[in-house]
Amino acid sequence: MDTIHRVTSLRDVRAGWRDAHDSVALVPTMGNLHEGHLALVRQARLQADRVVVSIFVNPLQFDRPEDLAAYPRTLAEDCELLAREGVDLVFAPGDDELYRRPRSDITRVEVPGLSDLLEGAHRPGHFAGVATVVCKLFNLVQPDLAIFGEKDFQQLMLIRRMVDDLDLPVEVLSGATVREPDGLALSSRNAYLDRTQRERAPGLYQTLSEVGRQVAEGARDYLRLEDEAMKGLEIRGFEPDYVAVRRSADLLPPGPQDSQLVVLAAAWLGRARLIDNLMMDVP
Ligand code: PAJ
Repeated sequence: MDTIHRVTSLRDVRAGWRDAHDSVALVPTMGNLHEGHLALVRQARLQADRVVVSIFVNPLQFDRPEDLAAYPRTLAEDCELLAREGVDLVFAPGDDELYRRPRSDITRVEVPGLSDLLEGAHRPGHFAGVATVVCKLFNLVQPDLAIFGEKDFQQLMLIRRMVDDLDLPVEVLSGATVREPDGLALSSRNAYLDRTQRERAPGLYQTLSEVGRQVAEGARDYLRLEDEAMKGLEIRGFEPDYVAVRRSADLLPPGPQDSQLVVLAAAWLGRARLIDNLMMDVP
Protein backbone atom coordinates (compact mmCIF):
# COMPACT_ATOMS: atom_id res chain seq x y z
CA MET A 1 0.00 0.00 0.00
CA ASP A 2 1.27 3.44 -0.94
CA THR A 3 0.60 6.60 1.06
CA ILE A 4 0.94 9.77 -0.95
CA HIS A 5 0.58 13.41 -0.01
CA ARG A 6 0.88 15.18 -3.35
CA VAL A 7 -1.69 15.78 -6.07
CA THR A 8 0.91 15.22 -8.81
CA SER A 9 1.77 11.74 -7.45
CA LEU A 10 -1.91 10.87 -7.24
CA ARG A 11 -2.41 11.87 -10.87
CA ASP A 12 0.50 9.62 -11.90
CA VAL A 13 -0.86 6.58 -10.07
CA ARG A 14 -4.33 7.21 -11.46
CA ALA A 15 -3.01 7.44 -15.02
CA GLY A 16 -1.34 4.02 -14.62
CA TRP A 17 -4.58 2.44 -13.45
CA ARG A 18 -6.45 3.98 -16.37
CA ASP A 19 -3.94 2.44 -18.79
CA ALA A 20 -4.48 -0.94 -17.09
CA HIS A 21 -8.31 -0.52 -17.31
CA ASP A 22 -8.59 -1.00 -13.53
CA SER A 23 -11.81 0.16 -11.86
CA VAL A 24 -11.34 2.45 -8.87
CA ALA A 25 -13.34 2.88 -5.65
CA LEU A 26 -12.85 5.85 -3.31
CA VAL A 27 -13.68 6.01 0.40
CA PRO A 28 -13.31 9.62 1.57
CA THR A 29 -12.54 10.02 5.30
CA MET A 30 -11.10 12.45 7.81
CA GLY A 31 -9.04 9.67 9.39
CA ASN A 32 -9.01 8.44 12.99
CA LEU A 33 -10.48 5.31 11.47
CA HIS A 34 -12.84 2.92 13.23
CA GLU A 35 -14.90 -0.11 12.22
CA GLY A 36 -17.50 2.16 10.57
CA HIS A 37 -14.88 3.41 8.11
CA LEU A 38 -13.38 -0.05 7.68
CA ALA A 39 -16.78 -1.51 6.77
CA LEU A 40 -16.94 0.97 3.89
CA VAL A 41 -13.40 0.02 2.86
CA ARG A 42 -14.35 -3.69 2.81
CA GLN A 43 -17.38 -2.88 0.68
CA ALA A 44 -15.11 -0.91 -1.70
CA ARG A 45 -12.64 -3.82 -1.85
CA LEU A 46 -15.42 -6.09 -3.14
CA GLN A 47 -16.52 -3.60 -5.79
CA ALA A 48 -13.41 -2.43 -7.61
CA ASP A 49 -9.92 -3.43 -8.76
CA ARG A 50 -8.31 -0.55 -6.87
CA VAL A 51 -9.29 1.03 -3.56
CA VAL A 52 -8.26 4.56 -2.59
CA VAL A 53 -8.91 5.94 0.90
CA SER A 54 -8.50 9.67 1.34
CA ILE A 55 -7.60 11.03 4.76
CA PHE A 56 -8.03 14.77 5.00
CA VAL A 57 -9.36 16.78 7.93
CA ASN A 58 -11.12 19.30 5.74
CA PRO A 59 -10.88 22.77 7.33
CA LEU A 60 -13.57 24.11 4.99
CA GLN A 61 -16.32 22.01 6.60
CA PHE A 62 -15.61 22.92 10.24
CA ASP A 63 -17.84 25.68 11.53
CA ARG A 64 -16.03 25.89 14.89
CA PRO A 65 -12.23 26.41 14.99
CA GLU A 66 -11.96 24.54 18.31
CA ASP A 67 -13.57 21.46 16.71
CA LEU A 68 -11.03 21.56 13.86
CA ALA A 69 -8.12 21.98 16.27
CA ALA A 70 -9.26 19.11 18.52
CA TYR A 71 -10.10 16.68 15.70
CA PRO A 72 -7.96 13.53 16.25
CA ARG A 73 -5.19 13.00 13.68
CA THR A 74 -3.78 9.46 13.69
CA LEU A 75 -2.31 8.92 10.23
CA ALA A 76 0.22 6.20 11.17
CA GLU A 77 -2.38 4.03 12.93
CA ASP A 78 -4.89 4.66 10.15
CA CYS A 79 -2.41 3.48 7.50
CA GLU A 80 -1.68 0.31 9.48
CA LEU A 81 -5.39 -0.54 9.59
CA LEU A 82 -5.84 0.20 5.89
CA ALA A 83 -2.84 -1.88 4.83
CA ARG A 84 -4.49 -4.87 6.52
CA GLU A 85 -7.68 -4.27 4.50
CA GLY A 86 -5.85 -4.53 1.19
CA VAL A 87 -6.18 -0.87 0.30
CA ASP A 88 -4.07 0.14 -2.70
CA LEU A 89 -3.53 3.81 -1.99
CA VAL A 90 -3.96 6.29 0.86
CA PHE A 91 -4.19 9.89 -0.30
CA ALA A 92 -3.39 12.15 2.65
CA PRO A 93 -2.77 15.68 1.37
CA GLY A 94 -1.77 18.61 3.56
CA ASP A 95 -4.13 21.60 3.79
CA ASP A 96 -2.02 23.69 1.38
CA GLU A 97 -2.01 20.92 -1.17
CA LEU A 98 -5.79 21.07 -1.61
CA TYR A 99 -6.47 24.71 -0.74
CA ARG A 100 -4.01 26.95 -2.50
CA ARG A 101 -5.89 30.19 -1.80
CA PRO A 102 -7.10 32.08 1.28
CA ARG A 103 -10.30 30.55 2.63
CA SER A 104 -12.50 33.42 1.46
CA ASP A 105 -11.30 33.04 -2.17
CA ILE A 106 -11.93 29.31 -2.57
CA THR A 107 -14.46 28.28 -5.25
CA ARG A 108 -17.21 26.34 -3.52
CA VAL A 109 -19.87 23.83 -4.46
CA GLU A 110 -23.25 24.83 -3.01
CA VAL A 111 -26.16 22.40 -2.86
CA PRO A 112 -29.11 24.67 -2.11
CA GLY A 113 -31.99 23.50 0.03
CA LEU A 114 -30.42 20.35 1.40
CA SER A 115 -27.49 22.39 2.75
CA ASP A 116 -29.72 24.62 4.81
CA LEU A 117 -31.76 22.03 6.73
CA LEU A 118 -31.03 20.16 9.97
CA GLU A 119 -27.22 19.79 10.16
CA GLY A 120 -26.83 22.71 7.75
CA ALA A 121 -29.02 24.97 9.87
CA HIS A 122 -26.88 24.26 12.93
CA ARG A 123 -23.52 24.31 11.15
CA PRO A 124 -23.36 27.26 8.72
CA GLY A 125 -21.11 26.59 5.73
CA HIS A 126 -20.57 22.97 6.73
CA PHE A 127 -22.18 21.34 3.72
CA ALA A 128 -20.60 23.71 1.18
CA GLY A 129 -17.30 22.60 2.75
CA VAL A 130 -18.23 18.92 2.41
CA ALA A 131 -19.53 19.24 -1.16
CA THR A 132 -16.45 21.23 -2.21
CA VAL A 133 -13.91 18.77 -0.83
CA VAL A 134 -15.78 15.72 -2.11
CA CYS A 135 -16.06 17.30 -5.57
CA LYS A 136 -12.30 18.00 -5.50
CA LEU A 137 -11.55 14.44 -4.38
CA PHE A 138 -13.72 13.08 -7.20
CA ASN A 139 -11.83 15.25 -9.70
CA LEU A 140 -8.47 14.16 -8.31
CA VAL A 141 -9.05 10.43 -7.80
CA GLN A 142 -11.57 10.08 -10.66
CA PRO A 143 -13.16 7.04 -9.04
CA ASP A 144 -15.74 4.85 -10.77
CA LEU A 145 -17.55 4.57 -7.46
CA ALA A 146 -17.41 6.16 -4.03
CA ILE A 147 -18.83 4.89 -0.74
CA PHE A 148 -20.33 6.94 2.10
CA GLY A 149 -21.87 5.95 5.44
CA GLU A 150 -25.58 6.15 6.21
CA LYS A 151 -24.62 7.44 9.65
CA ASP A 152 -24.24 10.85 7.99
CA PHE A 153 -27.54 10.55 6.18
CA GLN A 154 -27.87 14.18 5.11
CA GLN A 155 -24.28 14.21 3.84
CA LEU A 156 -24.97 11.10 1.75
CA MET A 157 -28.05 12.75 0.23
CA LEU A 158 -26.14 15.95 -0.44
CA ILE A 159 -23.43 14.07 -2.32
CA ARG A 160 -25.95 12.13 -4.38
CA ARG A 161 -27.64 15.45 -5.26
CA MET A 162 -24.32 17.06 -6.21
CA VAL A 163 -23.34 14.11 -8.41
CA ASP A 164 -26.72 14.27 -10.15
CA ASP A 165 -26.78 18.05 -10.58
CA LEU A 166 -23.18 18.28 -11.84
CA ASP A 167 -23.30 15.05 -13.92
CA LEU A 168 -20.24 13.71 -12.14
CA PRO A 169 -19.35 10.27 -13.55
CA VAL A 170 -19.23 8.56 -10.14
CA GLU A 171 -21.56 5.89 -8.76
CA VAL A 172 -22.38 6.67 -5.12
CA LEU A 173 -22.93 3.69 -2.81
CA SER A 174 -23.77 3.67 0.87
CA GLY A 175 -22.86 1.51 3.86
CA ALA A 176 -25.05 0.81 6.91
CA THR A 177 -24.22 2.49 10.22
CA VAL A 178 -21.84 0.44 12.35
CA ARG A 179 -22.72 0.54 16.07
CA GLU A 180 -21.27 -0.44 19.42
CA PRO A 181 -23.06 -3.40 21.05
CA ASP A 182 -25.12 -0.90 23.11
CA GLY A 183 -26.33 0.89 19.96
CA LEU A 184 -24.06 3.95 19.96
CA ALA A 185 -23.01 4.73 16.38
CA LEU A 186 -19.22 4.62 16.00
CA SER A 187 -17.75 8.09 15.58
CA SER A 188 -14.36 9.72 16.04
CA ARG A 189 -16.09 12.21 18.32
CA ASN A 190 -17.06 9.44 20.79
CA ALA A 191 -13.49 9.80 22.13
CA TYR A 192 -14.54 13.13 23.68
CA LEU A 193 -17.00 11.36 26.01
CA ASP A 194 -16.03 10.81 29.65
CA ARG A 195 -17.22 7.68 31.47
CA THR A 196 -20.60 9.04 32.58
CA GLN A 197 -21.27 10.55 29.17
CA ARG A 198 -20.29 7.29 27.45
CA GLU A 199 -22.85 5.46 29.61
CA ARG A 200 -25.51 7.96 28.56
CA ALA A 201 -24.58 8.10 24.89
CA PRO A 202 -26.64 5.06 23.72
CA GLY A 203 -29.68 7.11 24.79
CA LEU A 204 -29.55 8.87 21.42
CA TYR A 205 -30.15 5.70 19.42
CA GLN A 206 -32.65 4.48 22.03
CA THR A 207 -34.61 7.70 21.56
CA LEU A 208 -34.64 7.26 17.76
CA SER A 209 -35.67 3.61 18.19
CA GLU A 210 -38.53 4.70 20.46
CA VAL A 211 -39.77 7.09 17.74
CA GLY A 212 -39.48 4.23 15.22
CA ARG A 213 -41.48 1.93 17.48
CA GLN A 214 -44.26 4.49 17.92
CA VAL A 215 -44.48 5.10 14.17
CA ALA A 216 -44.60 1.32 13.59
CA GLU A 217 -47.48 1.18 16.09
CA GLY A 218 -49.45 3.82 14.19
CA ALA A 219 -48.40 7.20 15.64
CA ARG A 220 -48.64 9.88 12.91
CA ASP A 221 -48.36 13.14 14.84
CA TYR A 222 -44.70 13.59 13.94
CA LEU A 223 -44.35 17.01 15.57
CA ARG A 224 -45.49 15.56 18.88
CA LEU A 225 -43.07 12.62 18.49
CA GLU A 226 -40.22 15.05 17.80
CA ASP A 227 -41.14 17.14 20.81
CA GLU A 228 -41.34 14.12 23.12
CA ALA A 229 -38.02 12.82 21.81
CA MET A 230 -36.36 16.22 22.47
CA LYS A 231 -37.65 16.15 26.05
CA GLY A 232 -36.57 12.52 26.44
CA LEU A 233 -33.04 13.42 25.33
CA GLU A 234 -32.89 16.26 27.85
CA ILE A 235 -33.97 13.89 30.62
CA ARG A 236 -31.20 11.51 29.52
CA GLY A 237 -28.63 14.29 29.97
CA PHE A 238 -28.27 15.48 26.35
CA GLU A 239 -28.57 18.99 24.99
CA PRO A 240 -30.38 18.24 21.73
CA ASP A 241 -30.00 20.45 18.64
CA TYR A 242 -32.89 18.74 16.82
CA VAL A 243 -34.95 15.61 16.42
CA ALA A 244 -36.72 15.54 13.05
CA VAL A 245 -38.98 13.04 11.32
CA ARG A 246 -38.49 13.57 7.58
CA ARG A 247 -39.12 11.97 4.22
CA SER A 248 -36.05 9.92 3.37
CA ALA A 249 -36.21 11.03 -0.30
CA ASP A 250 -35.67 14.76 0.29
CA LEU A 251 -35.57 15.39 4.06
CA LEU A 252 -38.73 17.52 3.91
CA PRO A 253 -41.47 17.16 6.55
CA PRO A 254 -43.72 14.18 5.74
CA GLY A 255 -47.35 14.34 4.75
CA PRO A 256 -49.97 11.67 5.49
CA GLN A 257 -49.21 9.77 2.24
CA ASP A 258 -45.45 9.46 2.82
CA SER A 259 -44.24 6.03 3.85
CA GLN A 260 -40.43 6.16 3.55
CA LEU A 261 -39.28 8.19 6.53
CA VAL A 262 -36.14 8.79 8.52
CA VAL A 263 -35.80 10.22 12.00
CA LEU A 264 -32.61 12.23 12.46
CA ALA A 265 -31.13 13.74 15.59
CA ALA A 266 -28.15 15.74 16.78
CA ALA A 267 -27.41 16.23 20.46
CA TRP A 268 -24.57 17.39 22.66
CA LEU A 269 -23.11 15.38 25.51
CA GLY A 270 -20.51 17.63 27.10
CA ARG A 271 -18.21 18.73 24.28
CA ALA A 272 -19.19 15.86 21.96
CA ARG A 273 -21.86 16.55 19.38
CA LEU A 274 -23.41 13.23 18.36
CA ILE A 275 -25.61 12.62 15.32
CA ASP A 276 -27.60 9.56 14.38
CA ASN A 277 -30.62 8.51 12.32
CA LEU A 278 -33.01 5.64 11.79
CA MET A 279 -34.93 4.77 8.67
CA MET A 280 -38.61 3.90 9.08
CA ASP A 281 -41.19 2.36 6.76
CA VAL A 282 -44.63 3.58 7.69
CA PRO A 283 -46.86 0.48 7.66
P1 PAJ B 1 -15.65 10.96 8.41
O1 PAJ B 1 -16.46 11.47 9.54
O2 PAJ B 1 -14.25 10.51 8.65
O3 PAJ B 1 -16.44 9.76 7.77
C1 PAJ B 1 -15.97 9.12 6.60
C2 PAJ B 1 -17.06 8.20 6.11
O4 PAJ B 1 -17.32 7.20 7.10
C3 PAJ B 1 -18.39 8.94 5.87
O5 PAJ B 1 -19.00 8.47 4.68
C4 PAJ B 1 -19.21 8.56 7.11
O6 PAJ B 1 -20.60 8.59 6.88
C5 PAJ B 1 -18.70 7.15 7.36
N1 PAJ B 1 -18.95 6.72 8.75
C6 PAJ B 1 -18.59 7.38 9.88
N2 PAJ B 1 -19.02 6.70 10.97
C7 PAJ B 1 -19.68 5.60 10.51
C8 PAJ B 1 -20.37 4.50 11.13
N3 PAJ B 1 -20.47 4.40 12.45
N4 PAJ B 1 -20.92 3.57 10.34
C9 PAJ B 1 -20.83 3.66 8.97
N5 PAJ B 1 -20.19 4.66 8.33
C10 PAJ B 1 -19.63 5.62 9.08
O7 PAJ B 1 -17.80 12.19 6.73
C11 PAJ B 1 -16.67 12.65 6.65
O8 PAJ B 1 -15.57 12.06 7.24
C12 PAJ B 1 -16.34 13.88 5.82
O9 PAJ B 1 -17.44 14.75 5.86
C13 PAJ B 1 -15.95 13.58 4.36
C14 PAJ B 1 -17.08 12.89 3.59
C15 PAJ B 1 -14.68 12.70 4.33
C16 PAJ B 1 -15.62 14.91 3.63
O10 PAJ B 1 -14.61 15.59 4.29
